[in-house]
Amino acid sequence: MAQLWGGRFTKETDQLVYDFNASISFDKRLYRQDIKGSIVHVKMLTKVGILTADEGAKIVKGLEGIWADIESGKLKITHEYEDIHSFVEAKLIAEIGDVGKKLHTGRSRNDQVALDMKLYIREEIQTLDGLLQALLQVLLDLMKVHTTSYMPGFTHLQKAQPTTLAHHLGAYFEMFKRDRSRLSDTYKRMDTNPLGSGAFAGTTYPLDRAYTTELLEFSSVTYNSMDGVSDRDYLIELLSNLSIVMMHLSRFSEEIIIWNSNEYQFVEIDDEFSTGSSIMPQKKNPDIAELVRGKTGRVYGSLMALLTTMKGLPLAYNKDMQEDKEPVFDALDNVKLCLHLFTGMVATIKFRQDKMEASAKNGFTNATDAADYLVNRGVPFRDAHGIIGRLVLYCIEQGKSIDDLTLAEFQEISPVFAEDIYQAVCLETCVNMRNTLGAPGQVSMKKVIERYEEELK
Ligand code: ARG
Repeated sequence: MAQLWGGRFTKETDQLVYDFNASISFDKRLYRQDIKGSIVHVKMLTKVGILTADEGAKIVKGLEGIWADIESGKLKITHEYEDIHSFVEAKLIAEIGDVGKKLHTGRSRNDQVALDMKLYIREEIQTLDGLLQALLQVLLDLMKVHTTSYMPGFTHLQKAQPTTLAHHLGAYFEMFKRDRSRLSDTYKRMDTNPLGSGAFAGTTYPLDRAYTTELLEFSSVTYNSMDGVSDRDYLIELLSNLSIVMMHLSRFSEEIIIWNSNEYQFVEIDDEFSTGSSIMPQKKNPDIAELVRGKTGRVYGSLMALLTTMKGLPLAYNKDMQEDKEPVFDALDNVKLCLHLFTGMVATIKFRQDKMEASAKNGFTNATDAADYLVNRGVPFRDAHGIIGRLVLYCIEQGKSIDDLTLAEFQEISPVFAEDIYQAVCLETCVNMRNTLGAPGQVSMKKVIERYEEELK
């Protein structure tokens, strides 16, 4: 045990209490952000004359040395310090002597940890953005080659109308695009510098907050020091964004699992992303998709955990807030892993166009188009709906699909049907006549793909 705050105490802390209180086991991952924040703080203290140029230079050099030693593995972050802030400060003093004791002038661990987390999350949002962008690129590449890969579209998990694989994947493209935009919104809102908030009431030293804001590349400074040390909104926003990313990945995983089943056979997951069974030799399981779906619950859990931790906390800093880190780190680690693996799985998946098309052909996905055919020849839609309903019933009884009926059979049900009905209800027509913007028709799909390409540049 090594503490920064022994002066006021007469007894040693109990080991269990010490361990319970400590955060170094999980906040050690903030060492880069912590040292960077300290270097900037020292440069500012030097600029305003609180430290001499010589003192400032010594401390900065000492901090840079600690950074390099941690990176190289020469210095191990050990758990006898309470948190990463105490560790770095103690090592600095051990390294450069008494001048190191001036590092914490005009600063509290409260604004220090607030800063460290913001620096860390800014980087993580950029990493997430890159991962989402890579997934979008894979989806777009697939969309480009599948504008005429026909498949059934579903509502209520019942075949509804035919569509294309490009159109289906495009729906996920939209979802992940929104995820990027949500993360970028969160980034913009959190991009404010809390350093200089002190414990919560600022400080009597003439700190130059504009200068640290500039050096740390924040777009602005925080304007209330109580909020500066106790704002965790952006972590909740982040976890909410991550939960939505996982919800999207989970929906997509669910579809892949269904498509990969023996009943559907729409896709084959690559061997690299499948696993076998210890007992059933024939099995090839979609474990990766299932685990992504499964980990969604865990990320939602992190969001609930932090929302609940923050509920009812009085201003300003409370130790409860230390509980922000584990859920946030766990969610980030898992979402990054899921995005990475999921992208690899989708990039290597084999789409069985033959199976998809065959499935679109049986199941009356062209029933709406058959009704529209009658409407275009003057039959009111409600009547057309009834006629096609009877036609479908007849097909079911005969074990036929709509396209299989003879013209005589069509005309038995309605005399309005003519030879051109076959052209009207074939898969290609059903899909490619649908050209409202956003629909699967080739003309509309091409416009959308061009737009996506522009956006991804
Ligand atoms: N480990 C603490 C945290 O993560 C750092 C801030 C501690 N501040 C304090 N006054 N005890 O929140």
